[in-house]
This record gives sequence, C-alpha cells and structure tokens, in this order.
Amino acid sequence: MVELKTLHLDKTNLAQAASILSSGGIVAIPTETVYGLAGNAFDPQAVKKIFSAKGRPSDNPLIVHISDIEEIYNVVSYFPPKAKKLAEKFWPGPLTMILPKNKNIPDEVTAGMDSVAVRFPSNEIAREIIKEAGVPLVAPSANLSGTPSPTKFSHVVKDLDGKIDAIVDGGNCNIGVESTVISLLDENTPKLLRPGAVTPEDIEKTIGKIEIDKSVFQKISPNQKVLSPGMKYRHYSPRARVIMVKAPSEVFAKYVNFNHNSGVAALCLDEDIPYLKIPYISYGSAKNSSEQARNIFDRLRQIDDSDIELVYAHFFESDEMSMAVYNRLVRAAGFEIVDLM
Ligand code: TXA
Ligand code: MG
Repeated sequence: MVELKTLHLDKTNLAQAASILSSGGIVAIPTETVYGLAGNAFDPQAVKKIFSAKGRPSDNPLIVHISDIEEIYNVVSYFPPKAKKLAEKFWPGPLTMILPKNKNIPDEVTAGMDSVAVRFPSNEIAREIIKEAGVPLVAPSANLSGTPSPTKFSHVVKDLDGKIDAIVDGGNCNIGVESTVISLLDENTPKLLRPGAVTPEDIEKTIGKIEIDKSVFQKISPNQKVLSPGMKYRHYSPRARVIMVKAPSEVFAKYVNFNHNSGVAALCLDEDIPYLKIPYISYGSAKNSSEQARNIFDRLRQIDDSDIELVYAHFFESDEMSMAVYNRLVRAAGFEIVDLM
C-alpha cells in the first residue's frame, strides 16, 4: 500500500478534519469509548478505504455515527418505539442500536445485511466533526484488525500512521471499551450483542426484558452463523499467550507466583500487588470495573510492546461494567480460562 502523509490534528482544526471527510478521506477521531476511523457513510469508496487501512474482513459491518437524532431517518428505514426510548435515555452516549437499514446506506457499510448499526456519540470533538462534515460517518475502532482497540492518540499513530489521511488528538478516551451493541430487529426480544458502559440493567429499566446473546461469553466457531459478525473474529490478541485466571487476590497470586520463568508476567488488579512475586502490570482496582475498562486495552498494548511471552490475566467480577471487561479479556485470552473461584 502507498504510504500517505498522515496529518496530526487536534481540537483547534476540526474544520479541516471535517473537510477531509466530506471530500472522501478517512480520519481517526476520538470518541468517549475508543478512537474511531471515520469516513462518509454514504460514500462506498471511503468505506472501502477504511476496510483496507484496518485490514478488516469485508463481511464485518460498520457502525454509522450521527450527531443529531433527526439524522437517524437517513440511516434506518424504521425507528421502533423501544429504540426511541433508548435514544431518549442514552443518546448521546455509548450505545449502538441495530435497526432495519435505509436504502441510502451502501452495502459496503453493512456487509450486505439489511440491518444497520447506529450510534450518537457524546464526545464533543466527535459530535463537532460529524456536524461539520454534514453527513453521518462510519467509524470502526481505529486499530489494525485484531489488535486491541485504541484509547490513546499514540495507539492510533502506532497502528495507522501512513495509512490514513489524518488523526485527531482528543486525549485519552474516558470509557475505554467500545459501545454497548443491542439489536432491536426483533422488537419483542431486544438482544445484547456486545456489553459496554450502558449495562443490561440500565437497558431493562428503560425497555423491559432483553436477551443476552451467547456470543458475549462464548467462543464462536468460524463457520457458525452469528448475529454480530465482529464476534467471530480473533480480537484484542496480544503476541503473548494470555491465560485468564478467575480468583480472589491471594489465590491468584499463589497460582502465578509458582511460575518464575522469564517472560512471564501478571496482568493484575491493584489488590494483588502486595502478594505478587513475579513481574506485573495492573489494570485497576478489583472494586472498580470502570477503571479496569478504561485501562484494559492500553495494558494489552504495553504487553505487546514488551518481551512478555505468557500473561496471567486476573479477572474478578465486581460491579456494573464487569461484563464488558470480561468480554474483552476473555477474547484477548482466546477463551483460555483457569477458574479458581
Ligand atoms: O464504541 C464504538 O462502538 C466504537 C467507536 C469508534 O464508536 N466503534 C466500534 O466499531 O467499536 P467496530 O467496527 O470496532 O465494532 C462494531 C461492531 C462489530 O462487532 C460489528 O460486527 C457490529 O458492531 N455490527 C455492525 N453492524 C452490525 C449489524 N448490522 N448487525 C450486527 N452487528 C453489527
Ligand atoms: Mg473494533
């Protein structure tokens, strides 16, 4: 692929970012969840550039981002009552809804499916860029396909510098894991496809009972039919082998301290530190899953940049965002789990 000169922009030149986007370019932008690689959702050529820069399989559809609720009528063909309720409650914010697609949306965006994913982000820079560009923007996470999602400007530079037109520096992402994805295609039984900062409890308080798709917790085999194609791909996978260990702090430490080999480390929680006798890197307090979510991808990337070959990743269920953290960590571990609970 030809190397591009990738512009580095920030909040002082958002108009430039928007103008690159409206003329068919692709730009990485910050959102409250993770950085996204944006392009005009109505422009199949821009969409193709995104797939190619990320090395993303073309059967994995993209999320369309809007900056105004009214814009949804150019993206979906039907905005059902339950979706309206969720939009009122959680937009702008980290919630993506799967709805029937409008014919304006090219097949490249939806990988030929007749549904479309739509989200209204809350990050001010993202909203400003979408508004200025004057069109909805597709934006998958701005990482190379298979690597952890980017939560810092430096992560995007590492993966995509030279491959895209510009990167907008918006500092670190607040939430740190991608948006919650819920399908409303079957209005009677909305289905959670990806856990995020908007939790199942939050959603059920607004629209009643929902189902949780089994792919949230389980491995999907390559040939299995799935509701959300993204769930079947290898995700967030560091170079090192990652083994998830479910245990209380002392038990975790006892288990991992046994392995003194070089190249072995613990991806731990703060509470483990006093007990650990092997190298470690912490991703937050055992009592604070929001903090864990904010750090998890950065720590997986740090492990990738080191000589570590085997990582014991400590998971301990605590509060609301534990499901989202588990979902990412278990994929990083390729579903290899040691349960000591
Ligand atoms: O927080 C986020 O959602 C970030 C930021 C940048 O907005 N974006 C993001 O996009 O995570 P991406 O492409 O990395 O993940 C989109 C997920 C994939 O798992 C994809 O398969 C699923 O949403 N998806 C997209 N369109 C879909 C559809 N029509 N039906 C089912 N799943 C869909
Ligand atoms: Mg992604």
